[in-house]
Amino acid sequence: MSKTIAVVGATGAQGGSVARAFLKLDGWKVRAITRNTGSDNAKKLASEGAEVVSANADDEASLLKAFEGINVVFAVTNFWEHLFTGSSPDESGVKEAEQAKKLARAASQTSSLEHYVWSTLPSAKALTNGKFPVPHLDYKAEVDDWIRSDLPDLHAKTTYLILGFYPNNFANFPNVKPFEIPGSWGKWVQILPTSASAVIPVSGDINITPGLYTRQIVAKPELTKGKYVDISPEILTFGEMLKQYGEVTGRQTAYIQVSAEDFTSVWGVGGKEMADQFAFGEQFKDGWGSASSITKEDLGIKDDEWPSFKQTLESMKDQL
Ligand SMILES: NC(=O)c1ccc[n+]([C@@H]2O[C@H](COP(=O)([O-])OP(=O)(O)OC[C@H]3O[C@@H](n4cnc5c(N)ncnc54)[C@H](OP(=O)(O)O)[C@@H]3O)[C@@H](O)[C@H]2O)c1
Repeated sequence: MSKTIAVVGATGAQGGSVARAFLKLDGWKVRAITRNTGSDNAKKLASEGAEVVSANADDEASLLKAFEGINVVFAVTNFWEHLFTGSSPDESGVKEAEQAKKLARAASQTSSLEHYVWSTLPSAKALTNGKFPVPHLDYKAEVDDWIRSDLPDLHAKTTYLILGFYPNNFANFPNVKPFEIPGSWGKWVQILPTSASAVIPVSGDINITPGLYTRQIVAKPELTKGKYVDISPEILTFGEMLKQYGEVTGRQTAYIQVSAEDFTSVWGVGGKEMADQFAFGEQFKDGWGSASSITKEDLGIKDDEWPSFKQTLESMKDQL
């Protein structure tokens, strides 16, 4: 008999990758959860074979209904949607955490559930003794603590995913995307509030790796339930990422470090959130002080299966 994975965020980056990985997998059906079954992405998923179901992370009853009979749930929340629609960073975190708790509560009440895969992030606040709080990380991590304390049965079925920085941000995150300085004879610059030598965990192609890892996490429940898994097959410096961008595009590049204040004055609240994340990241030399001990090799992921930062940029060259 086939199994079903319900994918929250299936019309987006992480969930889209998970939905497409399971649509290709023998013995699996995909239930794609969206607020708008009529969107282009929802229609595309339906045409690819997904059952597209309407539910909203603000509405627990709709989630309970959408999870009926499923075996696995993949869940992601979107901090940035709250931030970019007028909420402050802390208000955005509170709203994100409320949605994440509704998702977890609905999953915990689903008797058919075998495995819950929750896309979280590490607690910057806890890892730096309160010195470098980062709302889009910290509020997710608080939900992890709450699942462990308030929903222990769900915790026993949960894998906590930690996604690194998407290479795809170089194409579609305006404050990360390099741009040509007019009159500079073809110099493309990236202006960020962190050192070129600072490191960041990088996720591999966001359209591929969440699906690939979730497939293997679900295939190895004895290894992954109750555990953290990092999706950061590479750890790169900002300088190295821009160098590889230059190699892919054939452009001359320059990296310019600015202060958090200057970055925020240009990009507003979204710029401050990123500057805070980078300040937290600078405290670590090898990633984000992750709690994960499970490697991609433990999961049985082969090196030719995950597109590296450079391969991802190659595949989206027309959008750079
Ligand atoms: N950018 C990075 O480098 C990076 C790295 C690590 C982690 N992250 C985290 O990734 C998260 C965003 O994930 P993503 O990149 O996959 O987002 P995305 O591509 O923007 O997609 C967001 C998805 O969330 C769904 N969604 C939003 N609100 C919903 C609600 N109330 N009920 C049901 N579904 C809802 C949307 O579905 P519909 O619109 O169809 O309803 C959509 O499918 C953020 O929280 C961010 O902190 C980002």
